[in-house]
Amino acid sequence: PAARPLAGRRIIVTSGPTHEPIDPVRYIANRSSGKQGHSIAAALARLGADVQLVSGPVTIPDPADVSTTHVESARQMRDAIESLLPADAAIFVAAVADWRTADAAGEKIKKVAGEGPPALQMVENPDILAGVGHHAQRPFLVIGFAAETQEVLKNAQAKLDRKGADLIVANDVSHDSGIGPGGVMGGDRNRVRIVSKTGAEEWPELTKEEVAARLAALVAERLQATQT
Ligand code: C5P
Repeated sequence: PAARPLAGRRIIVTSGPTHEPIDPVRYIANRSSGKQGHSIAAALARLGADVQLVSGPVTIPDPADVSTTHVESARQMRDAIESLLPADAAIFVAAVADWRTADAAGEKIKKVAGEGPPALQMVENPDILAGVGHHAQRPFLVIGFAAETQEVLKNAQAKLDRKGADLIVANDVSHDSGIGPGGVMGGDRNRVRIVSKTGAEEWPELTKEEVAARLAALVAERLQATQT
């Protein structure tokens, strides 16, 4: 096979968390280091793809040979992706916050003695993957991620339909501490299942780099079937 099987292919990747402001100094976010998403972007670039990475706030560096757009909120991420379409494939690795505050305060919310905490009114964020999965300019290949704690397979398969994705990369985070070297989130290792409409393929425990390399190879294989 060609050394750069993804040459000429444009691929969008999302990575990292989103930050949803409460006021100028506080935000709501999911735990996400960006390690898995950034590794996937880098692995696709190594196979020759024109990679458009849209990243929420992370502390790791931008991957080499990748065009990176930095955003903060889910709505900014959605707008960035809209402006990057069309693409051959899109891989949604970001841990997007499901909710944001209905209106972020323009000034820092003051802690006033005796008044108690503020009540935050939340509204739902756009589902970026579902938007692209059902888009008029839907990429040929759309891949989502799913962190599940129970009924991993059943939930991932339901997600395929709802989000209009071809594949869901599912990982069981039920035993995850959530932080540190032992956990998937923030850690360097991952154990995933590749779920499609017809079944699931279980991958062994791998480093996030190895998951990225395998996934990039899978993307190359799937796109090979289409015309350049
Ligand atoms: O529904 P759930 O959050 O489990 O779905 C996870 C998948 O959907 C991931 O691929 C994630 O990047 C994507 N997602 C998204 N926009 C959201 C929520 C999730 O793109 N608002």
